[in-house]
Amino acid sequence: KKILLLNGPNLNLLGKREPGVYGKGTLQDIEASIQNMVEANGWEFEAFQSNHEGELIDKIHGFIGQDVGIIFNPGAYTHTSIALRDAIAGVDLPVIEVHISNVHKREEFRHTSLLAPVCYGQIVGLGSFGYKLAAQTFIEQF
Ligand code: DQA
Repeated sequence: KKILLLNGPNLNLLGKREPGVYGKGTLQDIEASIQNMVEANGWEFEAFQSNHEGELIDKIHGFIGQDVGIIFNPGAYTHTSIALRDAIAGVDLPVIEVHISNVHKREEFRHTSLLAPVCYGQIVGLGSFGYKLAAQTFIEQF
């Protein structure tokens, strides 16, 4: 059993990027804390971040047929990417979509997720704690 923590575009800048919206923690902090939690529960862990849509798609395809749960913050691709939606629908793996900020309080273009309809669930607006809740969900329910 494995958890893949997948982060999309601009999330490599966490800590520096709009800290009022996304907090001061870095992606490395988040990855380390989820890794600790996941491994303490006897699951394997992998983290991957990319600013490139195709690399995210290739990463997802690489897990076809494996016992893996994906925690995915797709960044702005959430609102634009039919290709990522098709990838998630095509691999038949459970994906929990996570957004650090409350996208519903923000610009209208952030209110729609093209990915949510093919995900197991979605966590929005709870800061980086949302990643932990997603990991906890996999650990307890899968
Ligand atoms: C985000 C929300 C998206 O609208 C935005 O493009 C991001 C981050 C979040 O975690 O709150 O890059 O996914």
